[in-house]
Amino acid sequence: MAAILLVYATGEGQTATVADRITERLRDAGHEVTANNVADLRGVDLADYDAVLLGASIHLGKAQDSMVKFARTHRDALDAMPNGFFEVSLSAASEDPERQAEARQYVAEFREATGWEPDIVGIFGGAFRYSQYGFLKRRLMKRIAADFTGDTDASRDYEYTDWDAVTAFTDDFAAIVETSEPTEATP
Ligand SMILES: Cc1cc2nc3c(=O)[nH]c(=O)nc-3n(C[C@H](O)[C@H](O)[C@H](O)COP(=O)(O)O)c2cc1C
Repeated sequence: MAAILLVYATGEGQTATVADRITERLRDAGHEVTANNVADLRGVDLADYDAVLLGASIHLGKAQDSMVKFARTHRDALDAMPNGFFEVSLSAASEDPERQAEARQYVAEFREATGWEPDIVGIFGGAFRYSQYGFLKRRLMKRIAADFTGDTDASRDYEYTDWDAVTAFTDDFAAIVETSEPTEATP
């Protein structure tokens, strides 16, 4: 059993939903998980944990500044333990290879901005929930959707997250954590 810290940044809640799924899966595997929105974290000490997973969504081409800052600030502590990163974006949901390359590019830019090389990276499609947007945001979102997915019918919501991919990523992360845990010496 490992103590795992999961920290996420979210704009409209989809990354929080992904974080919830990951938390549930890791707990089912017997780990103790503390999940926090980066906006709510105060004075966390990564040394209190055996492993850390960070997640962010992409808005206007980049991950939240708060997550970039968190990863940069804690880079040395992250490097010293099993760690991972996941990104949630619309590009990742697109079947267009150029958009998919863009989703990978966001991660490359995050790595560059933070100087952190995660042990494992997950890239997941996000969501578009027109029902939750006001008039102006809905107009902006329709324009963004036209570029990424073509799903501009604002009379319904869209979720593109591949939950099987989230599960597979979580299991791969858990395997990294478990193989790095010191085994108890047998007498
Ligand atoms: C204002 C805005 C800008 C966005 N810009 C991008 C973008 O540049 N690239 C992209 O792939 N997705 C973009 N998206 C899609 C989000 O990444 C997607 O909706 C994701 O589910 C958001 O996750 P969150 O709810 O955790 O913030 C944008 C979404 C919003 C609301």
